[in-house]
Amino acid sequence: MNQERVHTASPDFIAQANIKPDDYRRMYRESIENPDAFWTNVAKRLDWYRFPTDIRDVSYRPDDLHVRWYQDGRINASVNCLDRHLAARGDKTAIIWEGDDPSKSERISYRDLHARVCRLANALRNLGVKKGDFVVIYLPMIPEAAVAMLACARIGAPHCVVFGGFSPDSLGTRIADCSPKVIITADEGLRGGRPVALKANVDKALQRPDTHTVETVVVVRHTGNPVNMQSPRDRWYDTLVEGQPAVCEPEVMDAEDPLFILHTSGSTGKPKGVLHTTGGYLVHTSFTHEVIFDLKEDDVYWCTADVGWVTGHSYIVYGPLANGATTVIFEGVPNYPDFSRFWQVVDKHQVTIFYTAPTAIRALMREGEAPVAKTSRASLRLLGSVGEPINPEAWEWYHRVVGEGRCPIVDTWWQTENGGILISAIPGAIPQKPGSATLPFFGVEPAIVDNEGKVLEGVAEGNLVILSSWPGQFRTVYGDPKRYKDYFTTYPGTYFSGDGCRRDADGYYWITGRVDDVINVSGHRMGTAEVESALVAHPRVAEAAVVGFPHDIKGQGIYAYVTLNAGEQPSEELRRELVAWVRKEIGPIATPDHLQWAAAMPKTRSGKIMRRILRKIAENAPEQLGDTTTLADPSVVQTLVNERLVR
Ligand code: WTA
Repeated sequence: MNQERVHTASPDFIAQANIKPDDYRRMYRESIENPDAFWTNVAKRLDWYRFPTDIRDVSYRPDDLHVRWYQDGRINASVNCLDRHLAARGDKTAIIWEGDDPSKSERISYRDLHARVCRLANALRNLGVKKGDFVVIYLPMIPEAAVAMLACARIGAPHCVVFGGFSPDSLGTRIADCSPKVIITADEGLRGGRPVALKANVDKALQRPDTHTVETVVVVRHTGNPVNMQSPRDRWYDTLVEGQPAVCEPEVMDAEDPLFILHTSGSTGKPKGVLHTTGGYLVHTSFTHEVIFDLKEDDVYWCTADVGWVTGHSYIVYGPLANGATTVIFEGVPNYPDFSRFWQVVDKHQVTIFYTAPTAIRALMREGEAPVAKTSRASLRLLGSVGEPINPEAWEWYHRVVGEGRCPIVDTWWQTENGGILISAIPGAIPQKPGSATLPFFGVEPAIVDNEGKVLEGVAEGNLVILSSWPGQFRTVYGDPKRYKDYFTTYPGTYFSGDGCRRDADGYYWITGRVDDVINVSGHRMGTAEVESALVAHPRVAEAAVVGFPHDIKGQGIYAYVTLNAGEQPSEELRRELVAWVRKEIGPIATPDHLQWAAAMPKTRSGKIMRRILRKIAENAPEQLGDTTTLADPSVVQTLVNERLVR
């Protein structure tokens, strides 16, 4: 593998870069040696009602765990994303929307976006939404998604965005977790020309008794296809905002007031509502967005993520808009109408900065260079990657074919819990090695520990922890402080990421993937436990174990082992039914790639499933099974090996 190849930005790029090589070293040192002074300075980039003086109040000690940034500051996120740009950037395009249908697009100026946000914020207040009330947002990638988030921020109502690809049940679980009064959705979404029944899914989710707090469902008319509207609960978005004033007094928030929760998967149990607060999150996302993407006033910036994930929150909505940038919202998919779509959109809107996931790069790479080559892409100057490790081959292809060797690539490592990027190249300042996220961002002190928690120095491989705090760090797991604490008790006194990592002789970090029971499928984080509980919810299933396995396009695929109830017979029909069942229970992203019947699971004598063995079988590495003598019944393994589905 070509891991040690170093790419340095061109002299032209470096000459115009915001951060030069010497700046990086100096600023990093300052951020570590004197964090309060450093982060006071950075906070000046935002407009505060009261500028903070209490910069950092953090303890990772399990008996006194707390993370607070800028706690005496007062601020409103929507004002920072909108109002403060009106004087100089009122006519500048804030959002370029590109529809799933290539004939549909729209440009929204900062002035117009401000008015739309204010109208919806007023409408939400009229519906009784007050500071501190949750609002669930379940929308496709349309401008209203950003409008809804900012309208919530304006009135101090924390939002909880649910990815539009999630099933009614996954949506219901998230609604039940935060008890909103209002849900904002659309009649339907559109992806690759196919409708997604969002409103119908909401109707199903609201049949659950634990979602009874919802009083109003606001429905955006998007595809215009007929949907069931239940009076008085369901209200059309357009009639609701019609006639509302285009100004709305913002709520003055404490820096530590919640801005949103966003659910993500852990290794056990149901999804965790990761809670982010206002001041620190906005400082961190806007600052990283400017520095890591080398942002300039006339850039057209496009992040292809969905607002249902943290990348969409931080790097489609809050970071870019706080910076007064032009941000693209894309409703579609990379292969519709054809595999040139991304690059056609780049040409159409003259995109200069493009940020996507390795899984998309690999899928496009498989189609060859022709779909890329027939587009210009001359506007591009910087590329980014996020969500999973990028293999060096995909990195080189992205660099050579998409960027024609001209564009630096920032491989950005971070997590829902982190709020924003923690390890990444800064283009122009940090040379890149394909496959490495390179060096820590300002204020971030990564460390690698062994399984006993010993900090390893120099060249090392182990578990990635962070010793320091950063402003965009999550503040709790909503309603579950115990699960928050877990992050800081595995290796006491540090934040444990759940990722494995290696550090090379240049101090560069190479993320090797999750070391817990979380898998990363096409850049989507998933708990194997969630897929297992969906499977065992099927009446004919007795037991299920789910592991990840290496997948050429998705990074990791989903491999399920299923034991049926006594008396049930495996069949191809039942296999298909179970795969479809998981899809329906969680959503299409959780569809198992392989489902293997297991007459019995490999278990320890105390009854614990030995996943290490199941992982090796799924990886088609039966020679690496290791010690199986602790199994209650070692013969189980041979049957599973013989019947394995990947060879
Ligand atoms: C993985 C997405 C390698 C990692 C922003 C992490 C990465 C999980 C990278 C978080 C990267 C994200 N290189 N791995 N550049 N970025 N990951 O919460 O395993 O959806 O723990 O946040 O994605 O996924 P999440």
